[in-house]
Amino acid sequence: MYRSHSCGELRIAHVGEEVTLSGWVQVSRDFGGMTFMDMRDRYGITQIVFNMDDDAQLCEQARKLGREDVIKINGKVRERSNKNPNRDTGDIEIEVTELTILNESKVPPFTIEDETDGGDDLRMKYRYLDIRRSPVRNNLIFRSKLAIETRKYLDQEGFIEVETPVLIKSTPEGARDFVVPSRMNPGQFYALPQSPQTFKQILMIGGMDKYFQIVKCFRDEDLRADRQPEFTQIDCEMSFVTRDEVLATFEGLTKYLFKTLNGIDLPDFPLMSYDDAVKIYGSDKPDTRFEMHFVELNDVAQGKGFGVFDNAELIVGICAKGQASEYSNKDIKKLTEWMQRPQIGAKGLVYVKFEADGNIKSSVGKFFSDEDLKVWGEKMGAEPGDMLLILSGETDKTRKQLNELRLEMGNRMGLMDPTVFNPLWVVDFPLLEWDEESERFHAMHHPFTSPKKEDQDKMLTGDHATMKALKADAYDLVINGVEIGGGSIRIHDRELQSKNFDLLGFTKEEAEEQFGFLLGAFEYGAPPHGGIAFGFDRLCAVMNGVNSIRDFIAFPKNNQGRDMMIDAPSPIADEQYDELSLKSTVK
Ligand code: AMO
Repeated sequence: MYRSHSCGELRIAHVGEEVTLSGWVQVSRDFGGMTFMDMRDRYGITQIVFNMDDDAQLCEQARKLGREDVIKINGKVRERSNKNPNRDTGDIEIEVTELTILNESKVPPFTIEDETDGGDDLRMKYRYLDIRRSPVRNNLIFRSKLAIETRKYLDQEGFIEVETPVLIKSTPEGARDFVVPSRMNPGQFYALPQSPQTFKQILMIGGMDKYFQIVKCFRDEDLRADRQPEFTQIDCEMSFVTRDEVLATFEGLTKYLFKTLNGIDLPDFPLMSYDDAVKIYGSDKPDTRFEMHFVELNDVAQGKGFGVFDNAELIVGICAKGQASEYSNKDIKKLTEWMQRPQIGAKGLVYVKFEADGNIKSSVGKFFSDEDLKVWGEKMGAEPGDMLLILSGETDKTRKQLNELRLEMGNRMGLMDPTVFNPLWVVDFPLLEWDEESERFHAMHHPFTSPKKEDQDKMLTGDHATMKALKADAYDLVINGVEIGGGSIRIHDRELQSKNFDLLGFTKEEAEEQFGFLLGAFEYGAPPHGGIAFGFDRLCAVMNGVNSIRDFIAFPKNNQGRDMMIDAPSPIADEQYDELSLKSTVK
């Protein structure tokens, strides 16, 4: 027998019992006559003691043990004289009577403690050691529970989990496909699914009515803290539903998960239109934990001889409460430089400080009187002590830049409390985005999204300007500025779907070649349907107030898309190129 108890299990009530534990040596402290050791497994840490007076040979054996050696011990539970209230097992220790070394370990390349000295790539290369650390392990346990509770909830709601294939044809979600060459069909490739979108729609046509799947998706896109090339979705689809029924179901799921896993009762989720989100927060995923709303100043700041403003399409600012005295000229200069970095690309930053003593200081004081600036202040709800930060330029760009500034200020001012959760639905997205460069429309969500009912006829008959203004029956769930999920009511009519492909620049042949199966299926009684997919990794991270989804993925990839442990991607053998009818272009 390897163990009678786990390393996290023993309490004062076990004192006097003979026990057997197995686990890893976390740390060893040698006090000459006594050697204390922390022994760890998945469940916790238990202190074990070797006493020179009782068994000198055993104590010598113990002294030779190193970090991460795997051991089994037998011994007696006793009360600790020096209790550790920070540890569940902190009231007891084990007097060891027998020690077996199950396996030795090399010295680990980083410390296996809650706070480690290992860098990201090193921890990923030795992920098995990283997973021994309790923060990583606890994240994986959280993820497992989240998946189980998701299944429970959706099962109760009558959803059926159906697996869809991984070797498929491209499903456009706006990223590049990962492709897999087919040996049996030379020159032909599968694509890995960016999502199971078309399959779940086919399942609705197949009458499944309520589908879900916790499913891997693959997207070849630039990686960020909240993006991995392979990630997991809670993917769902429902038949005979309106938008509000889909929202109610998934609001219910989200509330259930927060209640069950975090013990938090979320309030009802407000709805915000895409247009409002962009106007008030400069983002379609607003962090609504704090206000700092955008206020547009065109009507009060133009026509006073300040050319930058006079020529701007939009002048818009935020009011940073109580920050006037926090920012010296040097600080403002630094903040301006931060805004001017290529990642944000602002041309400049205008400030107005309403100092507590009534003085007004501004970078544009030459062009505007104190009276003018007071009007801005009133419009923006500024009080003495507050500071306005104002940007101007082309509308979309300026809003995006001010969004970055708002988030930066919110962070600096401590307004993004990780224990507060502010969910909302962003609705009524534009259906199509016009891309000036390629002179074509892109689907804002994906090509299967339905225009709102009132826009469907317009879509079939309208001109170019009408197309730009079409609204989609699409929605995103946003929590604390993170897009947790997105979905839509779908087109279920062949003519409308063909028209959409047409607008997106597909020729009839291309649409038929890529999506003929779906268009064909629409002709066999496709029910009205809609659905949503949550980013499962993102949900894990947000529920724990963490930015990086990597912390919740057992074997994540680094920013270059590499798995550091197995060293993938990697070259393939010449024979494989031949088998797959591929030509190597790499020498
Ligand atoms: P969408 O593309 O919005 O919709 O994806 C749904 C959710 O998946 C998460 N997500 C990601 N998470 C980690 N890494 C990535 N690279 C990544 N890309 C997306 C996000 C996102 O909100 N088929 C549609 C859903 C539908 O219409 O039902 C879809 O995939 O949290």
